[in-house]
Amino acid sequence: MRVLVTGVAGFIGARLAAELLARGFNVVGIDALTDYYSVLVKKSRLRKLDGHARFQFHPLDLSRDPLSQCLTGVESVFHCAGQPGVRASWSTGFDEHVRNNLVATHRLLEAIVDRSVSKFVYSSSSSVYGNQVHFPTVEAAPKAPFSPYGVSKLAAENLCFVYAANYGVPVVSLRYFTVFGGGQRPDMAIQRMIEASLTGAPFPIYGDGRQERDFTHVTDVIEANFAALESPSDSGEVYNIAGGSTATVAQLLEIVSSATGRPVPVAVQGSQMGDVQRTEASTDAAQSVLGWRPQVSLDDGVREQVDWALQDRVG
Ligand code: UGA
Repeated sequence: MRVLVTGVAGFIGARLAAELLARGFNVVGIDALTDYYSVLVKKSRLRKLDGHARFQFHPLDLSRDPLSQCLTGVESVFHCAGQPGVRASWSTGFDEHVRNNLVATHRLLEAIVDRSVSKFVYSSSSSVYGNQVHFPTVEAAPKAPFSPYGVSKLAAENLCFVYAANYGVPVVSLRYFTVFGGGQRPDMAIQRMIEASLTGAPFPIYGDGRQERDFTHVTDVIEANFAALESPSDSGEVYNIAGGSTATVAQLLEIVSSATGRPVPVAVQGSQMGDVQRTEASTDAAQSVLGWRPQVSLDDGVREQVDWALQDRVG
């Protein structure tokens, strides 16, 4: 089967593509190689995929480039591309979120609407929920994004639903909760803590460190994508994909420190606008419909991420 992975040079896209190749798929990858974080990091992820006989890469911007050529023969789409970053989505940063989350998703949906793809898996986000009062949060909970980023992810998720409902695009949306693991984005908490621990440069702790997250290992996210591909769901259904290991930022410092065997130096900074206080998801729907449940604990996943970081430093 030939599949398209958008955002293939990103953290999740690159790991998904590697697993698809390992399982015998033909993978067409697209990435705009934007500079939200180091393009060198993205190129090094691509180097691990390049050279594989069943991998094809197109350096395209979904928000403006012609897409038909790379869609030839594509049977399913994993739409992982997006402008990430809760804290960078304010002010002029929002333009990028509109373009790379909303316009890009719209153009991709338009480009595939007349093609008979069997599944379109959209990478959505826990950020669509904002600050909830009931935990664990179920999919039907009120959507009240707390950052412009969350607004853009919810709008794109809604757009996927609109194309499913009107045109029958076989959409499944997966709401990922703070994904971590080897190759994580360099702006995210765990990766920054590991770097701080290994280099001695302080980790900037935002606020009082009591923010709590439901951390999800990237291999669980990838398994959720395979489960979505194989499931009968195709009418715009959404599923929480969460690891079930909640921890505060302060607790995370301990976990990372015990995985590296060194302390994590910190520098206290002000709390960040758009940062929600707590996430914790119910994954009952994903378990009962997709047959998916998280497998990787926070401790094990952090150890894997530390090993990966050490390997990257040598490599
Ligand atoms: C993450 C991703 O960045 C989003 O792209 C994704 O959509 C979102 O998860 C999601 O689940 O929907 P976030 O939960 O903020 O967002 O993940 P981290 O960047 O790892 O931050 C976790 C916590 O650590 C936050 O409270 C943050 O304020 C804190 N943090 C992060 C720091 O204290 N210092 C840092 O340098 C980075």
